[in-house]
Amino acid sequence: MQRAAGTSNSMWSALVSLVILLICVYLYLGVHIVVYSAFTVGLLLMAQVLRQRGRGMSEGFERAVLITGCDSGFGYQLAKTLDSMGFTVFAGCLCSDGHGAQTLAKEGSQRLRVLQLDVTRDEDVRLAKTLVEANLPEKGLWAVVNNAGISDWGETEWNSIEDYQKMADINLFGSIRTSIAFLPFVRASKGRMVFVSSIFAFFNCMNMGAYSMSKRGLEAFADCLRVELSSFDVKVSIIQPGNFGPATNIRTKKTTQEIWDKLDEEHKLIFNRSYIEIANSYFQSSCNAGFKDCRMVIDAMVHALTAPNPKARYLLVSLVERMFFSVFSLLPTVITDAVFTISPIYHKRKAMLYL
Ligand SMILES: NC(=O)c1ccc[n+]([C@@H]2O[C@H](COP(=O)([O-])OP(=O)(O)OC[C@H]3O[C@@H](n4cnc5c(N)ncnc54)[C@H](OP(=O)(O)O)[C@@H]3O)[C@@H](O)[C@H]2O)c1
Repeated sequence: MQRAAGTSNSMWSALVSLVILLICVYLYLGVHIVVYSAFTVGLLLMAQVLRQRGRGMSEGFERAVLITGCDSGFGYQLAKTLDSMGFTVFAGCLCSDGHGAQTLAKEGSQRLRVLQLDVTRDEDVRLAKTLVEANLPEKGLWAVVNNAGISDWGETEWNSIEDYQKMADINLFGSIRTSIAFLPFVRASKGRMVFVSSIFAFFNCMNMGAYSMSKRGLEAFADCLRVELSSFDVKVSIIQPGNFGPATNIRTKKTTQEIWDKLDEEHKLIFNRSYIEIANSYFQSSCNAGFKDCRMVIDAMVHALTAPNPKARYLLVSLVERMFFSVFSLLPTVITDAVFTISPIYHKRKAMLYL
C-alpha cells in the first residue's frame, strides 16, 4: 500500500512538472513544439505506467515461495518476512526439529510450513517436492530461493578433495538439484529463481579458494538459466552479499590447533604454526567487522521476488566497497592480483613462509 501511495504521489509531481515545463516551452517556442513535447512525454509516462503494471506484486496472496537453509541467517529472516507479507512459505531446513525450524513453525502463520530439506540429498528433495505440490496455494509456486550454504577459509592447498567436494555439494550442486526439481512449478507460474552467491564469486581473495569455486560455479549456472528461462517469462536473480558475518551463523569457528592438526608434514614445514595463528585471528576479526543485521540482503531478496523488473545481480556491500568493486572489475589481472599485496597479512605471510 505504501508503495502504491508513493507511486501515485510521484505521478502527480511528474504531471505538475510536465504542465509547468509545457507552459515554459510555449512561452519561449510556440505551439508546435508544445504539441510535440506533450506527445513525447505522454509516451514516456505511458511506458512508465505499463512498466509498473508488470508482473510485480506488493503482497504474496495465494503465491508460494520455497526457501532453502532456513534454520538460521538470511533464510530464516526471509521466511519470516515473506510470511508476514502473505506468501505461503515453504521453509526448507537442514534440521527440521532444530531450534530455528521450530521457532519458525511456532511463530509463523498457519501458511508457513517447515520442510526437512538437506539440499545434498535426492530423497529430501523428492519428499519436499511431493509435500510442496500437495500444498500449493491457488497461484502455485512463485519462486525458489537457493540460499542454503556453508563457508570455510584456508589456503587452497590445505583443503583436501573432500573439502572441495563438500563445499560444491552444498553450495553448487545443492542449488542445482533444488532448482531443477522445482523449476516446472516456477515455469507454470512465470515466477522467479533466486540464487544466493557472494562477492567471492568474482573477488579472488586469498584463503577463499573453495568457497569462491562453489559460488562462481553457482553464478555460471544461474546466468545460463536466466538466458534460457527468459523465453518462459521466468526471471533469475543473483544475490551477492559482502560481509554479513555477525548477522548470521556463516562464520567458521575453528581453532589454530584444528587447522594445524589437519596439515601434513610437508605443509607444516612450509606454513608454520605462528602464521596459522595470525591468519586465523585475522580471518575472525575480518568476519566480525561485517554488517550486524541482514536487512539489506532481505530487502534485495524481496525486490528480486516482487519487483516487476528484478535485477540480474544485487551487490550488497558498503558504499566504499561498491566503489572499490566497480573499479576492480575494470582492471587487468596483473593489477587486481597486486591489490592483495597492500594487505598487511600478505607481507606477514610472505615473511613467515618457509621458502
Ligand atoms: N553471511 C554472510 O556474510 C554471507 C556473505 C555472502 C554470502 N552468503 C551466503 O548466504 C547464504 C546463507 O548463509 P547465511 O549467511 O545466512 O549463514 P547461515 O546462518 O549459516 O545459514 C545457512 C543455512 O544453510 C543451512 N545449510 C547448511 N548445509 C545445508 C544443507 N546441506 N542443506 C540445506 N541447508 C543447509 C544451514 O543450516 P545449519 O544452521 O543447521 O547449519 C543454515 O540454515 C549462503 O549461501 C552463504 O554462502 C553469506
